[in-house]
Amino acid sequence: MSEKLKDTLNNANKYVADNRLKVGIKPTFHLTGEIGWINDPNGFSFYKNKYHLFYQHNPYDVQFGDIYWGHATSDDMVSWKYEDIALAPDKEYDINGCFSGTAIVDNEKLVIMYTGFCNPDKDDISKSTQVQCIAVGDGKYFEKFENNPVIDKSNLPENCSEIDFRDPKIWVNDGVYYSLIANRASDGLGQLLLYKSTNLSEWEFVCVLLKNNGDFGKMWECPDLFMIEDKYVLIISPQEVVAKGDMFQNEHGTMYFIGDFNYDTFEFTYSDFNEIDFGLEFYAPQTLKTDDGRTILVAWCQSWGETIHHKVNGYSGIMTIPRELTIKNNKLYQYPVRELNDYRSNEVIYTNAIINGTEKLENVNGNIFDMELNIKNVDASFFEVRFLEDGESYVNIKVDFELNTVTFSRENNKFKGKNNTRTIHLKNTESIKMRILLDLYTFELFINDGEYATSYSVYAEDTAKDITFISDDKVKCDVSKWDISKR
Ligand code: FRU
Repeated sequence: MSEKLKDTLNNANKYVADNRLKVGIKPTFHLTGEIGWINDPNGFSFYKNKYHLFYQHNPYDVQFGDIYWGHATSDDMVSWKYEDIALAPDKEYDINGCFSGTAIVDNEKLVIMYTGFCNPDKDDISKSTQVQCIAVGDGKYFEKFENNPVIDKSNLPENCSEIDFRDPKIWVNDGVYYSLIANRASDGLGQLLLYKSTNLSEWEFVCVLLKNNGDFGKMWECPDLFMIEDKYVLIISPQEVVAKGDMFQNEHGTMYFIGDFNYDTFEFTYSDFNEIDFGLEFYAPQTLKTDDGRTILVAWCQSWGETIHHKVNGYSGIMTIPRELTIKNNKLYQYPVRELNDYRSNEVIYTNAIINGTEKLENVNGNIFDMELNIKNVDASFFEVRFLEDGESYVNIKVDFELNTVTFSRENNKFKGKNNTRTIHLKNTESIKMRILLDLYTFELFINDGEYATSYSVYAEDTAKDITFISDDKVKCDVSKWDISKR
């Protein structure tokens, strides 16, 4: 490792060590950076019997800056241990950031492919470059390849931007390495470029795997391509999207395509697509395959633009709970990793509780919990649950049985973003299942066993813990609630 890289890493790790005790209250089962800023999950992998989750990280500030790769490891994707910072910007090609990328296990090493960002003139982004780089490590220390960057403008086809060229997804198939990289075409729209290599150093452009036809925002970021059973799933994070019905209510969203990928023709065809998460904060997801065959997805539970970035506690940015992915009826279902159930305690159960008017249920309160609701309408036109109440402020979920909608709102919350409500239309709401994870500042709602997943930032006073159930007539509700505590 070069002396400069050693120094840059040591300085950052020392800064984290010196300041980690200044950080305020943290979520219990959602990962944040140790201090400072985080955005996208990176290099999500299973290596030497541990899950590894890296992330875009500015340790020195609670806002974006020159980006490092923070690093955490886990046995179960719920409790995370911070490791030393894994990658630091130190070379000309990545001096302003080691941007997002992915990892594979190869020859007993963890191989990272990331984007090097160089921005010599902060007032003129057109002079910046994005190139693809490799770093190889033992799960703790990573060496950048001598011949980095391994992909730069010299292997970009015509009409492809050098400025918007990032977030490689690397994988191996039949002894060949592949990399799928987000790029902006000269018409300003996103596209995914596929490369291949036999040695990680020399990469050959294969094709444009998919190009934005203008229907899905502008630039695309953070591609991932993986299989669930016999289907290929491609995910992207499109920017500057325009809302279409329930879809794309956020300026920067995420979406999936379900289809087929052919290694002979390098064609990706899809039959179905949709938004991944129907909340207000969710971006740049990545997946891994577990040893027992599950596909797990994790995302940054925030986004660029209008999202709330809470900075008072000395850190900014939270990951979603890792989610198990399945496909049912050509739709992507998401549900919290089953390992979370091992953290449940203090069970409170109500069977067929009748809600009619405004009700509180004994022992159903808190701001760190896992809750399941089975809601059956009898005579009501709406059913509402308020969370994080403190007399002045709350967030709520409201089911409108006449319109068949579920709406989340933080309009009545002390902390708001630009966009504070989101509504989903369901086929039927007469009977509806919800699972709610609340972990101080992160609120995740899964509807009907994961048919819809929605994530939100919900900053509130740490004392705001009341929960109230409201309806305008009879609703039957089973409530199961567990505290989630650290182990
Ligand atoms: C997505 C993203 C990536 C980029 C990274 C920089 O959130 O914009 O495209 O690599 O963040 O931190």
